[in-house]
Amino acid sequence: MAITAIRGFNDILPSEIGKWQFVEKMAREVFENFGFSEIRIPVLERTELFARGIGEATDIVEKEMYTFADKSGNSLTLRPEATASMARAYLEHQLYTFDPVAKLYFIGPMFRYERPQKGRYRQFYQIDAEVFGVGNPVVDAEVILMLIHFLRRVGLEKLELQLNSLGCRSCRPRYKEGLKADLDEKSFQLCEDCQRRLQSNPLRIFDCKVQTCQDAIADAPKVIDFICDECASHFDKVKEYLGIAGLDYHLTPRMVRGLDYYTRTAFEVVSYDLGSQNAVTGGGRYDNLFQEIGGLDVPGIGFAIGMERLISLLPKDREFIQYPHLFIASPGKETHREAYRLANQLHVEGIRAEFDYEGKSLKSQMRRADKLKARYVLILGEEELKKGRAVLRDMQDKSQQELPMPDIVETLKRKVFGH
Ligand code: HAM
Repeated sequence: MAITAIRGFNDILPSEIGKWQFVEKMAREVFENFGFSEIRIPVLERTELFARGIGEATDIVEKEMYTFADKSGNSLTLRPEATASMARAYLEHQLYTFDPVAKLYFIGPMFRYERPQKGRYRQFYQIDAEVFGVGNPVVDAEVILMLIHFLRRVGLEKLELQLNSLGCRSCRPRYKEGLKADLDEKSFQLCEDCQRRLQSNPLRIFDCKVQTCQDAIADAPKVIDFICDECASHFDKVKEYLGIAGLDYHLTPRMVRGLDYYTRTAFEVVSYDLGSQNAVTGGGRYDNLFQEIGGLDVPGIGFAIGMERLISLLPKDREFIQYPHLFIASPGKETHREAYRLANQLHVEGIRAEFDYEGKSLKSQMRRADKLKARYVLILGEEELKKGRAVLRDMQDKSQQELPMPDIVETLKRKVFGH
């Protein structure tokens, strides 16, 4: 039996790759303009990093991590997200000694053992951006602005920015108590998992998809009504700075995000074109994460964009495939050699040139050029070549012209690049 890929793990085929490359290129361009630098982190980390960073009592850590023991018995985990790893790298390499403020971005695959469905995979890609070392709310607004600017640059519309504040270490416990007291009365409505969450981590009940649990939290207390004065003033500033930049947002008091490290600002960008898995991006501030993983007291804020979801929203009428500039048709043995020589020369000059490897008939080569959507075809007829000439066919307007071979590379460069 033929071997197939693992469920929830996707191939990204050449017909799709143009979109991925486009999105990655735009991310690099936009983020670097905002002063961010790329970092690359390992695929594997010690399990403890995520258990402590994301939180033991979260769905990710409880159920979704690819965790295994290596041959020495160390517990390792395929990264389910990038923030904790990036924070670890910042601490481990003491990036703060160069400058306490680090603006970093990362692009790569994440792994979560979730039930695969459209928009939800077990290996999925994220574009992640983080600012470490700034607690000021102006940076919350700036990070959100960069995100929205990027999403617009790649052509996304119909997006909604959802915003909430999740409080901090000093006010969250009060909220948890209030929430617990409220839900204790409705605990008969809660599923088995949520009964447990009610004791360990009541906030996580918001992540549950079971309808009776959703009903139970529908009129539960809101975190925003419990936040302390410092958190309230931080949130007001974030809203004020978003307002200055003319950015619309929706306050979503029940959006609590699925990871435990968040403090204060939390946000998601959703698309109503996506169906149930409608969050393209999630992010927020996490001022205790560094301490949780055993480091210094460093504030942080960032977001991660799900690339599969983003790519499914790209405008349908845009071309992302790089078609050949030129197909060199060579109907004879001699001309075939010339096609090989010329194609190599053109590749060096930056022209995407294809030619026939098999010595097929001119007709079949022309058919292939058409199928590959080559912009031009250069026909190296035996007779013409002897006279030092070749015929260039414009596949758009179907016009043909004879060109001298000695300066064919320069002529083709002018045609292709327009100068
Ligand atoms: P997250 O909300 O778990 O946040 O994931 C961010 C985005 O990754 C989601 O909005 C979604 O687009 C995509 N995503 C998540 N799970 C899947 C999946 N199974 N299949 C496809 N796409 C998925 C984080 O990961 C945080 N680290 C974000 C962050 C960065 N917060 C602060 N900095």
